[in-house]
Amino acid sequence: MTQTSVIESLRSKALAALEKADTAAGLTDFQVEWLGRKGKLTVFLKSLSNLPMEDKKVTGKRANEIKTEIETALLEKQKILRQKELESDLKSQQLDLYLPGDPYPVGREHPISQVINELVRIFYGMGFINVGGPEMESEFYNFEALNIPANHPARDMQDTFYFNLANNQLPLPQMEAERSREEPVLLRTHTSPVQVRIMQSYPPPIAVVVPGRVYRHEATDATHLSVFHQLEGLLVDEGVSFADLKGSLERFAREFFGPQVRTRFRPSYFPFTEPSAEMDISCLLCDGSGCRVCKQSGWLEMMGAGLVNPRVFEYVKVDTEKYSGFAFGMGIERLAMFKYGVNDLRTFYENDVRFLEQF
Ligand code: FA5
Repeated sequence: MTQTSVIESLRSKALAALEKADTAAGLTDFQVEWLGRKGKLTVFLKSLSNLPMEDKKVTGKRANEIKTEIETALLEKQKILRQKELESDLKSQQLDLYLPGDPYPVGREHPISQVINELVRIFYGMGFINVGGPEMESEFYNFEALNIPANHPARDMQDTFYFNLANNQLPLPQMEAERSREEPVLLRTHTSPVQVRIMQSYPPPIAVVVPGRVYRHEATDATHLSVFHQLEGLLVDEGVSFADLKGSLERFAREFFGPQVRTRFRPSYFPFTEPSAEMDISCLLCDGSGCRVCKQSGWLEMMGAGLVNPRVFEYVKVDTEKYSGFAFGMGIERLAMFKYGVNDLRTFYENDVRFLEQF
């Protein structure tokens, strides 16, 4: 057999083998078998170096042409195969853009946050702005400046969580460092200390509401929590009277609970207001005729309120000849309880989504 016929037969064998290979692996095998370092074509090409010069020229030229032809055919086939694979992949993974998506759980505001926002909105409509204060408070702001001196029995009305700062060295945000280093520090038992902070920082007229968390060392039950929220209100201006307090709180009650609600004020005692009162609303369940929720009284207790005690004004250096004011403090969980007809405050914080989803 001449070298020329050997190479032509190699060519047709290679092309036939290539024709048969129709997978990526098959093409790789083909490449190794024919064009690899020990591949049939490569070995043949190497063997040409032993031929006489004339034969080498003719056969070598043809052999190189065949090698290029086979390499090109291989590349072409690889391209076609890749295209085919891509098409079949696309077919099998086709996206149906019209399929409904996976349901995504949508969160919502906690009912207590909803009530806070609603309260702030109502009072904003009456000209009160929303301010905040620290939850870690000094004894001075929580009690003393509110006319509740040490050893005064009124301190017992709000069982208190104290910090031992000498051991803890907790950071004291927004607090007068000098005073508080010496003074007992506690978790505020009510939002009333913010009254003092605001009056110390801003001259009258003042109209603020203060929603916030408060803490009391209490055994919890259906109507008592040890961590709960209050909304404090404070108005200081010239000529503020009890009528202004009543008018503002009645308007609030009608907006929050509905126009049918009735209110009443009973005398009460708070050291930082004088005179002081408790505001009740007509029971939302029995409309005042008496039921289990209102303990047959027809009324629900809403909040403490009163005219700012002049002794508090003296602490913050507000001129009592010129100014007077009113203040109130309501329990936000209790408001939510009455508004939504919930019979146990604790359910707001059990994190049962089935309960919370209702609001
Ligand atoms: C005070 O905390 C006064 N600072 C309110 C005040 C402000 C009076 C300004 C006058 C002027 P009292 O301790 O009554 O008052 O609490 C106010 C409201 O917080 C109560 O009417 C009640 O709605 C709510 N509350 C009190 N204790 C709890 C508790 N343990 N769990 C849930 N709510 C409570």
